[in-house]
Amino acid sequence: MTRRLDATQSGIATAASILRAGGLVAFGTETVYGLGADASQPQAVARIFEAKNRPRFNPLISHFASAQAAFEQVTPNPVARRLAQAFWPGPLTLILPRAPGCCISDLAADGLSSLAVRVPANATAHALLELVDRPIAAPSANRSGRISPVDAAHVLEELDGRIDAVLDSGPCTVGVESTVVDLTDPHAPCLLRPGGVTLEELQTICPHISLPRTASDQAPHSPGRLISHYAPHLPVRLNVLHAQADEALLAFGAPRPTPAPLVWNLSESGSLEEAAARLFTGLRTLDREGQRLGLNRIAVQPIPQHGLGRAIQDRLNRAAAPRPQDGTGDMAP
Ligand code: TXA
Ligand code: MG
Repeated sequence: MTRRLDATQSGIATAASILRAGGLVAFGTETVYGLGADASQPQAVARIFEAKNRPRFNPLISHFASAQAAFEQVTPNPVARRLAQAFWPGPLTLILPRAPGCCISDLAADGLSSLAVRVPANATAHALLELVDRPIAAPSANRSGRISPVDAAHVLEELDGRIDAVLDSGPCTVGVESTVVDLTDPHAPCLLRPGGVTLEELQTICPHISLPRTASDQAPHSPGRLISHYAPHLPVRLNVLHAQADEALLAFGAPRPTPAPLVWNLSESGSLEEAAARLFTGLRTLDREGQRLGLNRIAVQPIPQHGLGRAIQDRLNRAAAPRPQDGTGDMAP
């Protein structure tokens, strides 16, 4: 059984003691729910990979209560310090060289000489990280390849019985994962994953940040960026202007008449922030209800390609990508 803990002082204290004892606790951040373990204990980290059924070659992000704590484990450069100053705590992950004496287990870092570090903004996550006082490795708290969880009920749908506890801090406010920036070469910062901090925001600090040309280009730099990911059971059709009667529709913007019998509008007012926050719940709902109604696909209306629209489109592209042969999507984190 997986315990559901409230985001109270005693719930947070229980979560912290489970983590310190090497257990697994899912906790809400502003982006998605993470599946946490003490990053310095190899056996605890191994349990993350087991619970998620995640490939071992995919490194994990280590989470900290403060930039100061994060920068004890990596060697920051001036760009990293400026980005941290601007966007931490918040939905930004920095890839930096591991510091000498870094305590993160090789399993969490996949034996790489770099490490992904992040300081989340969510108040409960912050309180938990402060109390645990150790780096917490946390991938999204879903089965590998599936849709990321943005509330505690989603975590239990995916991982009930496979983890010790979920700390319920309510729905995630941002709704897409953190932006991942590779700063291992301080002269060539590179955006590995669009996320909660937008490209426009990053460019205010890093005007020359480069973008990977294609998703597969990212694979050597960010091993987890395999293409099939966020996979619902139903196939996904992108950039659809006219959905069909056998499709569930993921809509964006002012409602229009449609033959689709099932519609989830990401944002009727056209807000990309609202759309990001509603994306994963929408995909989950359309997938579940669409299958119940015997529909054949999820059709997705075009999403504007600026601001959070890039992160939304990235997740949708992966949801629509070819699946491994068994159709489970299990090749991806
Ligand atoms: O918002 C988030 O980032 C959430 C919450 C829980 O913090 N976490 C999350 O973790 O999305 P995960 O494991 O699903 O994604 C981590 C990404 C993967 O694409 C992984 O390959 C990349 O970060 N990554 C981790 N360490 C890396 C490294 N040393 N070099 C390059 N990419 C790395
Ligand atoms: Mg993930």
